[in-house]
Amino acid sequence: IVSAAGPRDFPRGGLPEVAMVGRSNVGKSSLINALTRQRVARTSAAPGKTRLANIYLVARGSAPPFHLVDLPGYGYARQAKGEETTSFEALTEAFFARERTSAVLLIDARHPGLENDRAAWQWLHRAAPAAIVGTKIDKLTRSERTRALRQLESVFEDTVLPVSAVTGEGL
Ligand code: GTP
Ligand code: MG
Repeated sequence: IVSAAGPRDFPRGGLPEVAMVGRSNVGKSSLINALTRQRVARTSAAPGKTRLANIYLVARGSAPPFHLVDLPGYGYARQAKGEETTSFEALTEAFFARERTSAVLLIDARHPGLENDRAAWQWLHRAAPAAIVGTKIDKLTRSERTRALRQLESVFEDTVLPVSAVTGEGL
């Protein structure tokens, strides 16, 4: 519907919204494409691809429509100089200050417990109803997977759903 640079561009009309939140390169845009089974969101092997809040309308059969939101990632080194980081935080804060928002926090299953992911969860689960998924689960062996999921659930003290945009697991 819109690529929002700030609160003025956010859609009005009160549809429920589910936003993807997570570090740059964790797989937010890929998960949106996997869920919608369309190449709507641009993805990249290099971090920092998504720079605006890209808002999609999901309308499927008789199911109630909602917005799926692809937010820019955090923790991208080249954003650390100030401006970009500030704009990410301002954008995210303004986004979740609105009604009827909820979030999926994406954590790379290979890197459980990074400091900025913990900080994101601390903030996010107070700001909106939120759930956690462990991404790129296809990259882990069976034993790595068991260990990673156990570690993730102990760090975040919540259920962590394993997902893969490549195999479709967890969608
Ligand atoms: P930013 O827009 O920079 O914040 O990144 P993003 O979180 O949107 O990540 P994106 O979806 O662009 O994916 C980053 C890289 O990870 C791409 O090279 C994807 O192909 C890869 N990737 C994403 N999801 C998966 C997955 O489930 N499995 C594997 N193996 N690779 C994945
Ligand atoms: Mg992206």
